[in-house]
Amino acid sequence: EKGGYDHFMLKEIYEQPSVIKDTYRGRLLVNDGIIKMSGVDDNLEKFLNAKRILIVACGTSWHAGLVAEYIIEEFSRIPVEVEYASEFRYRNPIINKDDVVIAISQSGETADTLAAIKLAKENGAFVFGVCNVVGSSISRETHAGAYTHAGPEIGVASTKAFTTQITILTLIALRLAKAKGTMSNSDYQRYLLELELIPEKVQEALLTNDVTKQIAEIYKDATNCLYLGRGYNFPVALEGALKLKEISYIHAEGYPAAEMKHGPIALIDEHMPVIVIAPNKGHYDKVVSNIQEIKSRSGKIIAVVTKGDTQVKELADHVIEIPEATEALTPLLTTIPLQLLSYHIAVLRGCNVDQPRNLAKSVTVE
Ligand code: M6R
Repeated sequence: EKGGYDHFMLKEIYEQPSVIKDTYRGRLLVNDGIIKMSGVDDNLEKFLNAKRILIVACGTSWHAGLVAEYIIEEFSRIPVEVEYASEFRYRNPIINKDDVVIAISQSGETADTLAAIKLAKENGAFVFGVCNVVGSSISRETHAGAYTHAGPEIGVASTKAFTTQITILTLIALRLAKAKGTMSNSDYQRYLLELELIPEKVQEALLTNDVTKQIAEIYKDATNCLYLGRGYNFPVALEGALKLKEISYIHAEGYPAAEMKHGPIALIDEHMPVIVIAPNKGHYDKVVSNIQEIKSRSGKIIAVVTKGDTQVKELADHVIEIPEATEALTPLLTTIPLQLLSYHIAVLRGCNVDQPRNLAKSVTVE
């Protein structure tokens, strides 16, 4: 049932090219130049009249929400706030009738997310679900939604759920951008084409398996790790750190790269591996300066770079190359080697990768 893989987690990591495709199939219609999502199309007025979009989720799903914040605001210029469902539900939040709430959950059973949805509904908001499990409690509690088509995710550490959530949320952002006219038609068509190429690129990103395994051998005994990224890849840094913590029990933290000098830089020495997500887009030059700052304090750099990169390659101790992509879509690629790195480190440390200690696949109690 593990399809020849040693663990469900690895199988699920490798399924990503096909499940991303399954998730946009029938929705991303490149030839017609449109995105069709009945849950959004049928409620388009609600989305277009929304003064803001509130995203509620936990764990990895919350990280997908953060990526969505960057993408939705950039594409459709609707203000987005992302909240931990557990905080939202207990802090007497301001919810308006013209808010759209998007709840993200792989299992569709997370207690805090479910409670946040109920609260939002009581206050008259329109609630849209992004779930993976068909017929789950959250999919039933929400007014409308769109399923991710990741298939069953058995590994406790979420992998393919994350990338399919980002896929759905990117489709929503594009659909809204088109409806609002916040993106030029040529950019819109370019994104549709680019999105269709993502599964192939994820396949290529999976070729980093060998290099991540070699890097894992070197750093498997680390006690701490720092993950840095900026912009669209800041949430990927958070997710990379979560993945390492939960399956290898190594303490890890994700940070926006520029925040390093506001504290975490004090931790840097020759024992501190720093994983830097540095694709050749957006804030590349600034990330290069951050890398220099780490190197001058003897930190060890593992950098995720775009194929053909030369600048970071000169500075970093190790580089992991991913294919070129438009900036907003890079999280779908940069995530892959980070999943593999955590996986290999956990295996080398003899950890129970699919069922890490103290964790449950779905957290149905608060
Ligand atoms: O089923 P959900 O997406 O609602 O679950 C949320 C979190 O419990 C989940 O993402 C958790 O953080 C994973 N173990 C992360 O790998």
